[in-house]
Formats: sequence, structure tokens, C-alpha cells
Amino acid sequence: MTHTATAPELATPPHRVWVELGPRSYPVEIGPGARWLLPQAVARTGARRVVVVSARPAEQVPDPGVPFLFVPAQDGEAHKTVAAVERLCVRFAEFGLTRRDAVVSCGGGTTTDTVGFAAAIYHRGLPVIHLPTSLLAQVDASVGGKTAVNLPVGKNLVGMYWQPSAVLCDTDLLATLPERERVNGYGEIARCHFIGAGDLRGLPVAEQIAASVARKAAIVAADERDSGLRHLLNYGHTLGHAIEHATGFAVKHGEAVGIGTVFAGLLAHAAGRIDAARAEEHRVVVAGYGLPTALPAGVADSELVALMRLDKKAMTGGLSFVLDAPTGPELVDDVPEHLVRQVLAGMPRAPLG
Ligand code: GLY
Repeated sequence: MTHTATAPELATPPHRVWVELGPRSYPVEIGPGARWLLPQAVARTGARRVVVVSARPAEQVPDPGVPFLFVPAQDGEAHKTVAAVERLCVRFAEFGLTRRDAVVSCGGGTTTDTVGFAAAIYHRGLPVIHLPTSLLAQVDASVGGKTAVNLPVGKNLVGMYWQPSAVLCDTDLLATLPERERVNGYGEIARCHFIGAGDLRGLPVAEQIAASVARKAAIVAADERDSGLRHLLNYGHTLGHAIEHATGFAVKHGEAVGIGTVFAGLLAHAAGRIDAARAEEHRVVVAGYGLPTALPAGVADSELVALMRLDKKAMTGGLSFVLDAPTGPELVDDVPEHLVRQVLAGMPRAPLG
């Protein structure tokens, strides 16, 4: 397979963030043209051949520098299945990939999740390099080693921790995103404001991604397997996931996280943890990134509460949220339902879309 595109000189060196995990440490390269570092990243794995699985056209994927097979993929939750993983593994086997080779994923978070999981289980694990193409995937999904696919009964129910060998976040690829998808990515950047990344509003996008990834990298380095600190990354996600489910994913992940972040601020205030000004800062930050701040009309509070009880953070069936405090955010278990309902009832509603 040949590509028409050739590697340009990188005008500016990308931002480099290390995810420090001992011998499994890896760089996240962020900036215009970062994808052209692919041949170097492949060379570092020692792979003799690679399979490139891409939801983007072949012309947008650099030549990996070793013999390769290009396998087209499609972004989207509907394609994030066990069957898709099986099909990929068959292609890997037909091409003769061994554990000494590597896989490259190129696409949004659903593609990096699916390909990452296939790489984790094929031959009991081989190196994977991610080229995330959506803002959401660059900021969050491709970094940190969570891979998973969906089952008909729920999202991300089958997966593994499998750290990539490198992540190349090429901000040139973001220019082609539809506006709603671009704004969607800001949901994860907005929540970073409240988990220690600082105020990223107004910065160039590469700096916003680099700061968000740096915060995530520090958290993952301290708690790779999500046993405590990593819960912080789910700031705004308890209600966010519930909104996604209740609307049949008509509200996108980042949009839902934005609304969930506003709610988390209001709930922390209602629980006496932060003052009204800090709660209002949540709304201002989320709105400032162009994200919705109102609950979707037509979704009952009781449905949202029932869905939030299923959240993975809540091991006991109670209502658990990551909530802000003057000392910083923390996971709070068993938040009283009446308080949750009171805050939901006080939030504005807006029609979908
Ligand atoms: N997206 C949350 C995490 O990686 O832990």
C-alpha cells in the first residue's frame, strides 16, 4: 500500500508529555503535523511490520516506515463491538502480525478504544500507537490505556488496560471536524479546569490539549488502574453518562460532561462544600467553551437518578460524585438523593440540539 502524502518538515516541534509508567512509559506528541512522527514511533517499537486501522482516508495516514496493511474502519459506538475486534484480529493474523510487530489506530475515541483492545488481546498483547483525530480523543480517550468495546447491554463492558507505545495528537486534523464535534471535545477540557489543570480558556488548542493531557498523565501515573485518584478524571461524568444514555446519545459525550460539570458545581454548593461563586464558575467555564449548560428537555429527573445509581464509581448502588471543595475535588459516596433531586429540579432545561 502506498500513500500520496509525504512527511513535511515540522514547522514547530510538538508539545511532548510523558506518561510515566516505568518501562511502559510513553510520549504523547501534540501539535500541528504531529502525525508525521509515526515512522519514528514505529521504529521505537522495533516492529517489522504493522497493521494500520484507520477511520480516516489512507492519504491522511503517514507511511509507518515498515511494510504495512491498511484496514479501513468506522468511528461510532455502533462499531465498537466484540465482533469488530474479532474481524481486526483475523486481519492481523492473515497479515502475519506477531508480538514483535505493532498496530496503529487512526480515528476518534471509538476507533482508538476498539483497536487498542484488539492490540491488547491479539497474541496476548502487542504494541499500539494511537493517532487520535477528534479533539475528544486527543484530550482524553487515546491517553491512559483504557481500551474497551460495548456489549448490547452497556458501554465499555469488555476491555483492558493496555498502554500505547506512543500517542500522536496532530492538531492539523482538527480543522476538518464539524463545529459540533470540535466543541464536543471541549467538554473534557472544561472539566480539567476543576481537577487541577488550571484555566485553559483562550489558549491555542495545542496548549489546551497539552495541559489537559499533562494533568491526565500525572493522574494515570499515580493510579493507572482507577483505584482512587483516577476517579477525578470522571469529574462531571456521573450525570454526563446518565444524560448520554437517557437521550440515546443524541447529547454527545463532551456536551453531556459539560452539563454534568455545571451540575457537579451546583451539587457541591448544595452540599456546603463550595460557595455560590465557585459553583457559578462551573457554569461560566462550561458556557465559555461553547458547551450546553442546561439539562435536555423531556428527560425525567427520576430517570437520571436511576441511571446515576448504575455509575461504575458507585460500587454500592448509592449516588457517587466527584465533588469540588476548597482542598480540591474528591469522590463523595452516598450523596443523599433528595439533594441530587433538588439540584436537578433547579437547573434550566433546553430542547435537544
Ligand atoms: N476517561 C477517564 C479515564 O481515562 O480514566
